[in-house]
Amino acid sequence: MQYDCKDMNLAEAGKKRIEWAWQSMPVCTAIKGRFEKERPLEGARIAACLHVTTETANLVSALKAGGAEVALCASNPLSTQDDVVASLVAHEKISTFAVKGEDSERYYGHIKAVLDTKPTITMDDGADLVSMLHKDRRELLAGIKGGTEETTTGVIRLRSMEKNGVLMYPIIAINDADTKHLFDNRYGTGQSTIDGILRSTNLLFAGSRVVVFGYGWCGRGTATRAKGMGANVIVVEVDPLKALEAVMDGYTVMSSLEAAAVGDVFITVTGDTSIIRKEHFEKMKDGAVVANSGHFNVEIDIPALDGLSVEKRAMRESVVQYVLKDGRKINLLGEGRLINLAAAEGHPAMVMDMSFADQLLSVEHIVKGKLKLEKKVYSVPREIDRMVAALKLASMGVKIDELTEKQKRYLASWEEGT
Ligand code: ADE
Repeated sequence: MQYDCKDMNLAEAGKKRIEWAWQSMPVCTAIKGRFEKERPLEGARIAACLHVTTETANLVSALKAGGAEVALCASNPLSTQDDVVASLVAHEKISTFAVKGEDSERYYGHIKAVLDTKPTITMDDGADLVSMLHKDRRELLAGIKGGTEETTTGVIRLRSMEKNGVLMYPIIAINDADTKHLFDNRYGTGQSTIDGILRSTNLLFAGSRVVVFGYGWCGRGTATRAKGMGANVIVVEVDPLKALEAVMDGYTVMSSLEAAAVGDVFITVTGDTSIIRKEHFEKMKDGAVVANSGHFNVEIDIPALDGLSVEKRAMRESVVQYVLKDGRKINLLGEGRLINLAAAEGHPAMVMDMSFADQLLSVEHIVKGKLKLEKKVYSVPREIDRMVAALKLASMGVKIDELTEKQKRYLASWEEGT
């Protein structure tokens, strides 16, 4: 077994934190129990490129319980929990390649190492692994049956590959499942983004002006939670429908340049590039705090901030203060990388339980040959989505009604009216 781990002495600490997360993952626990008995993934080799967290440890352990061979690397250089890597190697005997803070060369070296295991299935978060596979390791493509993609940004990249006719195998977009984006993106990103900002700065949100860029599910979640803590939330959005929704949800909506002049804390969650740029930094108040919670570190134009600055000071863990030529100070959190994983622990296990249940059942779906073989991006089958929701509700002890026969007939008919 091969691996790259910062410090194997962290294994025991990692094991306890993984167990802690497991307590909030009842749906994955149930699936793992079935996998142990049925071994539906026997013979599959899975190359996983994911945030290496306690929740991910439980996902890969369930895949292994199902009979798969798994190799894991990080999907972001700053999101790795080093104790988790140590425990995965020591206790689960899973080849894991990830070190928090790894440089670009080591990051891509780890993806390469995972691909060297000649996977039959890929499991990606952001599509870096799929991208390397299609660019540099094309000889492996013939052996690949299918893949899954966890996140919005990855799904956007894959749809672009499909559109350009370059995607070479079918991939299930986990993010499209309702049990994923309605919960993980909204409640997971919402809470953990604020967690990351507070852990790194210890700011008071009450009374402060928090500007949220992007009103997708992640933006909605972040705005709701910031508002709940007493912040005056401003939303910046380019889509008129989403902007209108933000207005009617009770937020102040304005242009990015207007917001730049009045905000105290700025959070990007758009999935696009160059959201906060030179012209925004030029307008910001002294002491402004800038953070990103989108997948890649391109939402904040850091080279532009560098260009405006005369000095850079590491103030606290995950906080670098840029001193501008005119004396103003702007604080950048987590090097502009996703702050919820760079400075906190990512989404809580309670929501990752659903996202990763979707992953487990989708991989089973592929291994059992139920996926059409066209080179396309597929949605998670509706029956999987509904099953995950039902299992989650059951684990919470929540009972719901079923439609009566009369109600079903009524919904299926067109004759009945006034
Ligand atoms: N993405 C966001 N939060 C995560 C977590 N806790 N584990 C894995 N991937 C994540």
